[in-house]
Amino acid sequence: MKKVCIVGASGKLGQYMVRHALDRGWEVVGVCREQSVSKLDAYKDRITIVPGATNDSAVIKQAVAGCDGVLTVLVPWGLQQYSSGTAQAVLDHAEPDARLIFSCGWHITRDGKDSYSLGFRMMLKVFGAMARLTRFADLDDQVEACRRVFASDRRWTVVRGSDLEEGDSEGLPVWSRHVGDPILESNKTRRIDFALFMVTALENDELVQEAPAIVSCKSASALKHTNPAGPH
Ligand SMILES: NC(=O)c1ccc[n+]([C@@H]2O[C@H](COP(=O)([O-])OP(=O)(O)OC[C@H]3O[C@@H](n4cnc5c(N)ncnc54)[C@H](OP(=O)(O)O)[C@@H]3O)[C@@H](O)[C@H]2O)c1
Repeated sequence: MKKVCIVGASGKLGQYMVRHALDRGWEVVGVCREQSVSKLDAYKDRITIVPGATNDSAVIKQAVAGCDGVLTVLVPWGLQQYSSGTAQAVLDHAEPDARLIFSCGWHITRDGKDSYSLGFRMMLKVFGAMARLTRFADLDDQVEACRRVFASDRRWTVVRGSDLEEGDSEGLPVWSRHVGDPILESNKTRRIDFALFMVTALENDELVQEAPAIVSCKSASALKHTNPAGPH
């Protein structure tokens, strides 16, 4: 990787990804909303910032030009197809061979083979209904965004995060193809390590067209079930 674009760079996950990418000596282009540019002040001399809505095709076209990789934070905020518009703009405009990494949560399923606890399903139903009612977020649009990514023949990876917490890095998270795998049971990852997984995925071809569900490598379930032979 020489040059990467981070779409949604000003958020918590985005800022961690900026740090990891700069640590690797890569050139970084960050996209964030106009009103959030100041959140990137700490990096302003070291990265190029393209202000604008992440679902604005012209903004994304400019930002991803010449990038070997694109890291995209998919968020379901609002009811304006923000997530699917963002994913579509990246799919449409990224360089043909670019590695494309997208973030989302465990609730996204690629093949319907994930198995969720009753508590998780209830939480999702209640949050989803409340969010739509208040026009705060549209979880279905994040589902649609991922559906479009899964259907594309691009070199994509969709990283599905567990519940997140702040704190120092615990190392690269472990992953499974399916929620319900006992290795994921602890359902906790540090946000800095979610970002680490996204950034290292750029150079991991084993993750091309995979949708890994991740959990901290130091969590009880990971320590109990880690299979040294590889993913579950
Ligand atoms: N939070 C969790 O527990 C959790 C769990 C599993 C997976 N995830 C996944 O992790 C990723 C990052 O989530 P996060 O919770 O950690 O958030 P985050 O990194 O703080 O990112 C939030 C992003 O949403 C943008 N945003 C906020 N309000 C917006 C609005 N009204 N319209 C458009 N954009 C808006 C922010 O941009 P500004 O800087 O411009 O505000 C920022 O880029 C997401 O893909 C999420 O699905 C989160």
